[in-house]
Amino acid sequence: MAEVGTGTGVSGLWLLRGMAPDAVLTSVDLEAEHQRHAREVFVAADVPTRRFRLIPGSALDVMPRLTDAGYDLVFVDGDKAEYGEYLDQALRLVRPGGVLAFDNALWHDRVADPAHRDAQTVAVRGLLETVQHDERLRPVLLPVGDGLLAAQLLP
Ligand SMILES: C[S@@+](CC[C@H](N)C(=O)[O-])C[C@H]1O[C@@H](n2cnc3c(N)ncnc32)[C@H](O)[C@@H]1O
Repeated sequence: MAEVGTGTGVSGLWLLRGMAPDAVLTSVDLEAEHQRHAREVFVAADVPTRRFRLIPGSALDVMPRLTDAGYDLVFVDGDKAEYGEYLDQALRLVRPGGVLAFDNALWHDRVADPAHRDAQTVAVRGLLETVQHDERLRPVLLPVGDGLLAAQLLP
């Protein structure tokens, strides 16, 4: 699994709990301090350190260095304004049959309201349109929380 936006490890912990016992979570975050906290959370939850790889840095610098088709799931929760670029990278990283997932896909209900034209809203709206029309993908938009866009890369 690959994750953009480690944060304090909440999503990472849920992912780790659902993954195969020998599967590894690779998670990227701009803020080393956030990753320090996530590491503490994982260790406190008895997750062996071999099961996660925390990479500090900008997602758009780190993602191009990750392995092509090397991940079953790419979960994105980083900078909303960069969601379009994350999609390009995620499409390269996920294996055929795997899943891309983007958190905040409704972005505080702004996406559906064309009056909102800030960079984050425009990028999330663009992501939804691109994914909807990409024939390589089978998407679903789940109205849970702030919205979760999941899309399978067809085998
Ligand atoms: C909403 S939080 C992630 C929360 C996390 N998924 C969790 O459940 O705990 C967004 C994270 O993305 C990181 N971030 C923001 N811009 C980034 C970028 N350009 N590259 C990598 N990480 C970034 C922030 O430092 C922050 O930790």
